[in-house]
Amino acid sequence: MRIKDLLKGTLSEEELRYVPSSFDIIGSREKAVAIVEVPTELEHRKNEIAKAIMKIHKNVKTVLAKKSARKGPYRIRELELVLGDPNTEVLHKEHGYLLKLDPRKVYFSPREATERQRVAKQVKPGEFIMLMFAGVGPYAFAILKWQPLVEKIVAIEINPYAFYYLLENIKLNKAEDKIVPILGDVRYKAQDFYNICDRVIMPLPKGAYLFLEEAFSCLKPEGGIIHVYHWAPEDDLFSEIEGIILKEAKRLGYRVHLLNRRKVLPYAPRIMKVCVEFKAWKN
Ligand SMILES: C[S@@+](CC[C@H](N)C(=O)[O-])C[C@H]1O[C@@H](n2cnc3c(N)ncnc32)[C@H](O)[C@@H]1O
Repeated sequence: MRIKDLLKGTLSEEELRYVPSSFDIIGSREKAVAIVEVPTELEHRKNEIAKAIMKIHKNVKTVLAKKSARKGPYRIRELELVLGDPNTEVLHKEHGYLLKLDPRKVYFSPREATERQRVAKQVKPGEFIMLMFAGVGPYAFAILKWQPLVEKIVAIEINPYAFYYLLENIKLNKAEDKIVPILGDVRYKAQDFYNICDRVIMPLPKGAYLFLEEAFSCLKPEGGIIHVYHWAPEDDLFSEIEGIILKEAKRLGYRVHLLNRRKVLPYAPRIMKVCVEFKAWKN
């Protein structure tokens, strides 16, 4: 049953038109949190909407409403507690690995699970990987699930809450011997891993390009692969980021070869999140 159907009789015909048809659920069968965007037209009905969500999804113990866009360096949004348990820490299962997290304190999007799988499947045995902007670690665990023979994954994260959950998740997924967690700014922390990485993953669409120098420098001199995320207008998805990559490569003395470019998910009206993957090696 859809929440719209459940609300028939409670909401007017006019109000029903605005009922959101999709929302994110993060968590497990025992305890999950729903994150919903309540349109301004239904602000006075958010409690009824939350009750309907909890009635249909029995595992949802808390309903949170989006109150802002993602913002700041930690890329989190304001979320209002509409109904339920104020303790919003959950254990989310995704493609065979566990992620403990609190969506009110860290970035996490269950919608990106498929994208993580796509990247993880490319990793070869023995690779040394730099995961910039690691969050609670979903890319690292996706990679480990697909490629347990990876050499190491260095995971750098600046938000102390996300870093706390990254450490928890390393324990939960028994990944102590493979993941090297580092708290801090990629700008300074990546330097310890210059010239030794086979692959660099940059999942920060807002501004990953500003760290391309660090990404190039992490690669082994004989070369490696960089995955960079970016936001782009729907009608011109790749020119800006590819132009930046070429310019940075030239400035830093690298050659590049484009491997793949793709749309990931819509970010905002007419704005897409895209991923560009390329090989780079020293001139
Ligand atoms: C878009 S989120 C992605 C998180 C994670 N990779 C995921 O897919 O769930 C970007 C993350 O980068 C972190 N971050 C932003 N700027 C950073 C920096 N300069 N150094 C390290 N981490 C940073 C944020 O705190 C946030 O957790």
